[in-house]
Amino acid sequence: MQKTAIFYGPVGGSTEYVAKRIQEIIGAGKCDLIPVRDASVTDLEKYDNIIFGIATIGNETWHNEPVKSGWFGFMPELEKCDFNGKTCAIFGLGDQIRYADHFVDAMADVYEVIKTNGATVTGSVDPKGYEFNHSRSLIDGRFIGLPVDEDFESDRTGKRIKSWLEEIMPQLGL
Ligand SMILES: Cc1cc2nc3c(=O)[nH]c(=O)nc-3n(C[C@H](O)[C@H](O)[C@H](O)COP(=O)(O)O)c2cc1C
Repeated sequence: MQKTAIFYGPVGGSTEYVAKRIQEIIGAGKCDLIPVRDASVTDLEKYDNIIFGIATIGNETWHNEPVKSGWFGFMPELEKCDFNGKTCAIFGLGDQIRYADHFVDAMADVYEVIKTNGATVTGSVDPKGYEFNHSRSLIDGRFIGLPVDEDFESDRTGKRIKSWLEEIMPQLGL
């Protein structure tokens, strides 16, 4: 059986909330939930399919808040991992009103590393329905993962997660 996990950070806020909702829908028995602050390349290597969750905090993402996010320490681990044969998807927490010029930028940082290291990345999303000016996570007219805005559009989160999972679960062998 293929093994799937959600690697996410930071803990204790909206990113964790969304990660838990995703795990609930997939089923806890089928998908492990792992905070990136506790994880290493050895943990990544155990899984065939991985969903990454990251919040964009500041224009330079985790570099501004290394301890809280966990991504500062985890990025070198991500860079060490060979993603050939792994299918991955990314969700990103952001705020399209206050940070309209950098909406969910951090998804792009994860995307670049895993793509370079051979991952098949699934789950791109149509930007229609989001209000923002610019995002580094928009590539060829689509978000490279699922943007979630719990600050201003929490009422749309449930539906966004559900339709995204319907699309990606078969690709993740779920
Ligand atoms: C200091 C700070 C900087 C932020 N910068 C951005 C940003 O550049 N782009 C964006 O889309 N959201 C930005 N946000 C919004 C967060 O990504 C959003 O609130 C997210 O839900 C936080 O996730 P968490 O609750 O898991 O920490 C920022 C929030 C804070 C507090």
